Amino acid sequence: MSTETQTYSRNNPFVSTMLVNYVMTDKDSEKETRHIELALEPSMHYTPGDAVGILPTNRDGEVESVLQALGYTGTEQVLDFFKKPTDLRDALTTKLHIGKLTRGSVNAYAKVAPESTPGLDFLKSLAGQDNKSKAEEYVYGREFIDLAMEHPGGITDPQQLFTVLGRLTPRMYSIASAQAKNPGTVHTTVRVVRYHSHSRDRQGLCSGHLGERADEGVTMPIFLHANNNFRLPQDPATPVIMVGPGTGIAPFRAFLQQRQANGDRGKNWLFFGEQRRASDFLYQKEWDGMLADGTLTKLDTAFSRDQQKKIYVQDRMKENSAELFAWLESGAYFYVCGDASRMAKDVEQTLLDGIANGKACSPDAAQEYLNTMKKEKRYQLDVY
Ligand SMILES: Cc1cc2nc3c(=O)[nH]c(=O)nc-3n(C[C@H](O)[C@H](O)[C@H](O)COP(=O)(O)OP(=O)(O)OC[C@H]3O[C@@H](n4cnc5c(N)ncnc54)[C@H](O)[C@@H]3O)c2cc1C
Ligand SMILES: NC(=O)c1ccc[n+]([C@@H]2O[C@H](COP(=O)([O-])OP(=O)(O)OC[C@H]3O[C@@H](n4cnc5c(N)ncnc54)[C@H](OP(=O)(O)O)[C@@H]3O)[C@@H](O)[C@H]2O)c1
Repeated sequence: MSTETQTYSRNNPFVSTMLVNYVMTDKDSEKETRHIELALEPSMHYTPGDAVGILPTNRDGEVESVLQALGYTGTEQVLDFFKKPTDLRDALTTKLHIGKLTRGSVNAYAKVAPESTPGLDFLKSLAGQDNKSKAEEYVYGREFIDLAMEHPGGITDPQQLFTVLGRLTPRMYSIASAQAKNPGTVHTTVRVVRYHSHSRDRQGLCSGHLGERADEGVTMPIFLHANNNFRLPQDPATPVIMVGPGTGIAPFRAFLQQRQANGDRGKNWLFFGEQRRASDFLYQKEWDGMLADGTLTKLDTAFSRDQQKKIYVQDRMKENSAELFAWLESGAYFYVCGDASRMAKDVEQTLLDGIANGKACSPDAAQEYLNTMKKEKRYQLDVY
């Protein structure tokens, strides 16, 4: 990611109105993935490949629980991170990160807590690089409320919260629309994070906000964020191959809308994967339309849980290995978006295997071929 675009920025966000927000996944799905459309001002512009930053707030219920655990009413006066006066309720709602606990917060809490704090020795034992894994284990699945309840009395002055807790930060979402087709709006594809840990139901800060408190008409601060490392080829005739399982599909909806709007002649091949065809086939009708009008040349899907043995996007790449290599040889750009931890690595390995087979060359030579693609910006990733 490079610079933020134009007038509005992370520190000076645009207050946008939610225009569309619905669940795309079926009720039988294990996921809740939403399609979201937010209003833009005429001066705001983005390019397919960019992201939108959304600034969420903490839930009233969570704020109330923290106030209760700390023994405050919320009317206490504090100075925010910019030394601007506000009350504690506002600070806990819009400025302080009370979600997922960090090791830094635990260490800071242990430092400010009085000696009488229950379990203080344990908290102190989590400090330092040598105790990193023990501390990681403690913070996993916990939020600030757990720390405040399990070790009460640690905060003796509400201002200390600005030392203990981090700032409430925006979350980035790949833009799923092309402005050429959607003037005045920006679209995203968001999976709502929900889980249960340490006897409490939890939800992701921003995706939870979008999933529960962002009905149409609600306003949210947003900003556009340029990503010059994820761009369609300049030549409209260049073929593109896009691999986007799950919410990784988002920027490819933007790419395809852009190519459709331009009337570009280049071929487009999309690989999409999710758990089940019946409940998780994101934007299916749109792909059908794009196949029918020729925007999409090829669509390969991998529904991992529709059969006993998992099938992933890279399995579809393997099945189409010879054709995929032929596209690369004809100058195709190759894009991957979505899960960084496993999917992107597995897809890269499959791509390398496909190159080695296609060229009948060694793994080292295949790696060199991919390095050249990277240098030519023909291999681009947007993974998280
Ligand atoms: C460039 C970029 C583009 C992105 N594009 C998209 C996109 O298009 N769509 C999209 O949905 N997301 C996208 N993301 C991810 C997105 O920014 C957020 O990280 C995501 O929505 C979660 O944020 P949150 O505030 O809802 O959750 P947070 O409050 O940040 O909580 C998430 C954290 O909860 C913890 N957690 C989750 N599940 C469990 C569990 N079962 N047990 C214990 N702990 C758990 C994990 O530590 C996880 O990191 C993108 C990220 C980047 C950097
Ligand atoms: N930070 C956060 O909390 C947060 C929030 C939202 C999304 N995300 C991330 O966003 C990304 C997309 O999430 P998502 O739920 O939309 O989709 P996802 O988890 O990437 O799942 C999409 C499809 O990919 C499959 N898959 C799993 N492992 C794979 C692999 N190694 N190679 C190829 N495919 C694989 C899944 O199959 P199976 O599930 O059947 O194995 C599923 O069919 C992930 O990185 C996710 O962690 C993160």
